[in-house]
Amino acid sequence: MAETLGFGVIGCGVIGRKHAQEIEQLEDARLVAVADAIPSRAEELGGGHGVDWYTDFHLLLTRPDIDIVNVCTPSGMHADIAIEVAKSGKHVIVEKPIDITLAKADAMIQACRDAGVKLCVISQHRFDPSTVRVKQEIAAGSLGRLILGEAAVNWYRSQGYYDSGDWRGTWALDGGGVLMNQSIHTIDLLQYLMGPVESVHAYTATMAHERIEVEDVATAVVRFQNGALGTIVGTTAAYPGLSARIELFGTTGSAVIDADRLTHLYLMAAPVQGMKHHVETVNLATTETNMNEAAAAASNPAAISDAHRRQFRDMMEAIRENREPLVNGEEGRKGLEIILAIYQSAKTGKTVTLPLG
Ligand SMILES: NC(=O)c1ccc[n+]([C@@H]2O[C@H](COP(=O)([O-])OP(=O)(O)OC[C@H]3O[C@@H](n4cnc5c(N)ncnc54)[C@H](O)[C@@H]3O)[C@@H](O)[C@H]2O)c1
Repeated sequence: MAETLGFGVIGCGVIGRKHAQEIEQLEDARLVAVADAIPSRAEELGGGHGVDWYTDFHLLLTRPDIDIVNVCTPSGMHADIAIEVAKSGKHVIVEKPIDITLAKADAMIQACRDAGVKLCVISQHRFDPSTVRVKQEIAAGSLGRLILGEAAVNWYRSQGYYDSGDWRGTWALDGGGVLMNQSIHTIDLLQYLMGPVESVHAYTATMAHERIEVEDVATAVVRFQNGALGTIVGTTAAYPGLSARIELFGTTGSAVIDADRLTHLYLMAAPVQGMKHHVETVNLATTETNMNEAAAAASNPAAISDAHRRQFRDMMEAIRENREPLVNGEEGRKGLEIILAIYQSAKTGKTVTLPLG
């Protein structure tokens, strides 16, 4: 068996608890310590897992038995903490978004490079069996030339959700609303599957929540570098929480991923005499648990599938094989840049072309 890698988790809130739980499920990983600025949170998570806990994360960074540190703090703090992690010589797993500005994302990427440590940005749905299958079909050319990609996140977050943390719904620490916090997963998958975005034109609005600075409804039209067109729609006001959905259309096939499941895959086979087309349809449900969790995520921020575990495994293999993880800093930055371009378009009323200057 491979040598066990030690993990430390910084930030013991909703997602920090999930990280700790998933690390414990990996046979060649060990949760060593956790840290949170709020003592009761650190104690509860550390005590629950029988590991050391700290209120000052710098103490966690001095532990020689920690190889990888998971940064699970509010989004606008990611780079500042990740840079300190990198300087301590530990590998970094940072939650999405990588941070909320490109300057901070770039500083984090550079710091990890300078320290010679690996950087992994969470985008766990890239590891869903549905995404893996569609990526393979596109690479094999089964869908033909891609022409249209639609991403829609029609979720519901109550006023209580936004009120549950000072940082939620703020520009300074959440960095945005439904796009930056919830839809980033689906936006990342859209660009991962369709290819790089060339330009966007967008509208955003705050329609259904109070005491938030950011958008809870957003629409954007997209042109991809390969000429394909697309749409991005997101809301946290779709009561009671419908699904996150991606629909991809190529000249010879279509694929639909709904609530993390591949619900439709239509592929034209090679032309057969007398037959108009061949249709392959599949329903690639992953597991019952995943299905339920994906559906629950539409209204419950704590309902998160076990895909984090697959991404942690990829990071551990990357360290052992000295290769880049699938979602390294540059990959994690892509979704952020698209979202910032959408915000810029909504603010200026103009079409915004990437890369952002
Ligand atoms: N991948 C996913 O599916 C997913 C799901 C939920 C959240 N997230 C991301 O995870 C991050 C955290 O979200 P959350 O919902 O867990 O938030 P949260 O508010 O529940 O937890 C954040 C924790 O960080 C702690 N913290 C703040 N500053 C700290 C510091 N300097 N040192 C140590 N701890 C500190 C807070 O006390 C809090 O306990 C966000 O960036 C969010 O976008 C990702």
